[in-house]
Amino acid sequence: MLERSVIDEIRGILEEEDLERKLRATVKLCSAARKLGTEKLSYPKTGEAPLGVVRPGRPRDWTVVEPQEIRDRPKIGNPEGRYKLLHSVANIELAAIELMLMAVADFPGEPREYYQAMLQVAGEEVMHTRMLMRRLRKLGGEFGSEPVHLGLWKTATEWTDLPGRLGVVPRILEARGLDVSESLRDKLGAAGDDESAAVLQRIYDEEIGHVAIGTTWYRAACELRDLNPEKHFIELVQRFQPKRSKRPIDKEGRRAAGFTDREIAALAGEPVEPFE
Ligand SMILES: [Fe+2]
Ligand SMILES: [Fe+2]
Repeated sequence: MLERSVIDEIRGILEEEDLERKLRATVKLCSAARKLGTEKLSYPKTGEAPLGVVRPGRPRDWTVVEPQEIRDRPKIGNPEGRYKLLHSVANIELAAIELMLMAVADFPGEPREYYQAMLQVAGEEVMHTRMLMRRLRKLGGEFGSEPVHLGLWKTATEWTDLPGRLGVVPRILEARGLDVSESLRDKLGAAGDDESAAVLQRIYDEEIGHVAIGTTWYRAACELRDLNPEKHFIELVQRFQPKRSKRPIDKEGRRAAGFTDREIAALAGEPVEPFE
């Protein structure tokens, strides 16, 4: 069970506009995660939504736009393009922190291990964000110098049940990063930016773990609700992304993250082996 004050703390972190305070408060909460879920803690029966929709705060001097307003694909061959690319990855990592916190606060009554797993991931997302912030600084800029969007947050809030949220957030949104990573690393390496490529490599390795954690808890959530996890995921894929991405699926990475052949086929738009 989840202590009420954890939900209030998460609401505070989400609303926090100061980036440094947001990251520090997340780390503090993650390192206290072991205290979560002990017998004496309980979630009060208030009947109200546990977290509700809380718009994430961003520093006042940042430009927050709609996702479709950020259209141009950064050209990795030049330094400005590489900077923009890393900035957009930093924006995704920052959103990933908040999505993991929402996966905690939106779903009271789950086992303690669930909260600990989500907060472990949130802590690693803070590290990813910081690695990219350092890289941006080295390239002469600062996180927030480019427009950002809240697209991932908006999408996540549309999924209010746990199988849906875990099917979509780690297994569709987060896992997309796996598909693009190799080609970005190659392009960065070809442009002579091995340091940025190494940052993306480290993130890739850890993201496989994140998606695997998502898979574990997604399956558990489905089974508790008598849903066939594979069938349900295929339905989610069909509902979520009728248009296939042109990028090939990172089958190896996805297998390592717990995807089945049927799920990979559904994601790749290939025929899915029928169920018995
Ligand atoms: Fe990450
Ligand atoms: Fe992640």
